[in-house]
Amino acid sequence: MSHSLQKSRQDHANGECRDPKSRVTVVGSGSWGSVAAKLIASNALKLPSFHDEVRMWVFEEVLPNGEKLTNVINKTNENAKYLPGITLGRNVVADPDLENAVKEANMLVFVTPHQFMDGICKQLKGKISGEVEAISLVKGMEVKKEGPCLISSLISKELGINCCVLMGANIANEIAMEKFSEATVGYGGSRDIAEKWVQLFSTPYFMVTPVHDVEGVELCGTLKNIVAIATGFVDGLDMGNNTKAAIMRIGLREMKALSKLLFPSVKDSTFFESCGVADVITTCLGGRNRRVAEAFARSGGKRSFDELEAEMLKGQKLQGVLTAREVYETLDHRGWLEMFPLFSTVHQICIGRLKPDDIVHYRDHKSLISIDGPIHLRKSISSMM
Ligand SMILES: NC(=O)c1ccc[n+]([C@@H]2O[C@H](COP(=O)([O-])OP(=O)(O)OC[C@H]3O[C@@H](n4cnc5c(N)ncnc54)[C@H](O)[C@@H]3O)[C@@H](O)[C@H]2O)c1
Repeated sequence: MSHSLQKSRQDHANGECRDPKSRVTVVGSGSWGSVAAKLIASNALKLPSFHDEVRMWVFEEVLPNGEKLTNVINKTNENAKYLPGITLGRNVVADPDLENAVKEANMLVFVTPHQFMDGICKQLKGKISGEVEAISLVKGMEVKKEGPCLISSLISKELGINCCVLMGANIANEIAMEKFSEATVGYGGSRDIAEKWVQLFSTPYFMVTPVHDVEGVELCGTLKNIVAIATGFVDGLDMGNNTKAAIMRIGLREMKALSKLLFPSVKDSTFFESCGVADVITTCLGGRNRRVAEAFARSGGKRSFDELEAEMLKGQKLQGVLTAREVYETLDHRGWLEMFPLFSTVHQICIGRLKPDDIVHYRDHKSLISIDGPIHLRKSISSMM
């Protein structure tokens, strides 16, 4: 072995080898995870600052024909279960071993349903070392005793790494077919890191804008799923477009008010980015949360969300019902339920305490909140955080 190769291996073993190229792993392989891998893989091949290979951690499943999903992806370059018919890119390598999938990467993209993120972080805790950057595409949050915890904070706290977010009006199947859409990268630290993520995701059909408001961007992506459930009820009750638009407007208002109460630094302008109003519109017109909530309302609330999710989504996960419960617990804990009548009504309909048509009666509990959130509360919240 030559002296220089020996030295390079030694440096690597000592952690001193600084690879000038970045290596990306996508943690998650559902519909959006697979589309994210496709976007990144096409750019990794073109950009000299990235290694070609993009690893994708796959939660292993056995398909009805007896084959493992990972093997099928690596053989056909398609995710037959979650994104059939779409080629991911020859440089996407599916890996069922989480620790192995992340071990060489210095850019981690987290994109699983939010209920699995706590377990994933626990498994990776202490195993990520060096200068690693993360981005979360996960919509949802963790509710702990001490209050809500955004997924980007969970990743940062558990793994000790910086975490940006990418949210937006992004229904996975449409982007998979390369139809034009926009997204927002939220960042809290260095703009350079945000620009690197923008570069990694941007394509002529996927336009990404960085915004210095990580909490605002993430809360938009999380809370809009509750609004989508509300508009699904409206559709299931055949209430029409005016009602649906009203619910979307009120929902957006509650999203903004709650985000600003929880994080006073959240910017108004964030709600006009793709992650804000545009995501509310697309999710309330076309997303899976709306679709399943419509079926729930059409059954008069008699079929459970669990049953409908299993029947209609075929392994995909519904996020809005869980987020509605988590937000309800937060509002209840802080004594804010009356200020967020739409959010609290959605949860109560989901658990059968109210009927689907109560979605338009919630106005009886007059909202006490002004468009910018009550000043006295904002002050007391900021002193609590
Ligand atoms: N699908 C979309 O259009 C879309 C768009 C934007 C954001 N998102 C967000 O992206 C995230 C991922 O959603 P998705 O659409 O890629 O997933 P999905 O709902 O299509 O698929 C579910 C995924 O969860 C995995 N899974 C099942 N059990 C698991 C376990 N115990 N541990 C870990 N993983 C498990 C499955 O293998 C599968 O990859 C969610 O937060 C979602 O809100 C989705």
